[in-house]
Amino acid sequence: PRDGALAGRHVLVTSGPTHEPIDPVRYIANRSSGRQGHAIAAAAARAGARVTLVSGPVGIPAPPGVDLVPVETARQMQAAVDAALPADIAIFAAAVADWRTDRDAARKIKKVGGGPPALALVENPDILATVAAMRAGRPALVVGFAAETHDVIALARAKRARKGCDLMIANDVSAGSGVAGGVMGGARNAVHLIDAGDAVISWPEMDKDMVAERLIAECVTRLEGLSEA
Ligand code: C5P
Repeated sequence: PRDGALAGRHVLVTSGPTHEPIDPVRYIANRSSGRQGHAIAAAAARAGARVTLVSGPVGIPAPPGVDLVPVETARQMQAAVDAALPADIAIFAAAVADWRTDRDAARKIKKVGGGPPALALVENPDILATVAAMRAGRPALVVGFAAETHDVIALARAKRARKGCDLMIANDVSAGSGVAGGVMGGARNAVHLIDAGDAVISWPEMDKDMVAERLIAECVTRLEGLSEA
């Protein structure tokens, strides 16, 4: 995007995994390095936006010039997103754990006696779907991610409609995706953009930094299109 394209705008980005505690020493999580989400936050900041980055636990630093809100669980992420709104653009790149345990044991679950514990799981709130469905104060542009291992475009189209977001970024996270180093945790990504008209734009494999740069440029174009309409 051109310099200052997002000056005066607020961009909210979620990134990283969430950790759902089982007891004080164990948790349920998923494979997400935060690299794509953090790169998007960095690109938005470079374009002049005020950026709030709500991130689960990751091993990489927050990019310069963004307001980091560190969280652990999906419910904390939802509260942080609520507190950060309103925003002009909200990009949900976090890999949120779909489930949490129904109880968070205050004491470490012991192995002795009784066999393995039964973990009952309950569903976490869908942060993206909740924000996309807002009646008042909805961000002008709500962007989601879909990590799929098969039927990538068909599943991502259905997911975009189900979640109600304006743009869905689909990526193939299967071992056979052909992306060097793998998408999860790797430096590169190959994505398809699916918009509300079900149009698909496929970008070639490139660095996550470049995906971020191009995604922010795409958001700028779409945001400007909205204000002209
Ligand atoms: O349903 P699924 O997890 O595949 O959806 C992925 C998209 O939804 C991502 O944009 C992710 O950040 C978002 N999401 C969310 N809250 C959840 C689950 C997913 O915001 N509880």
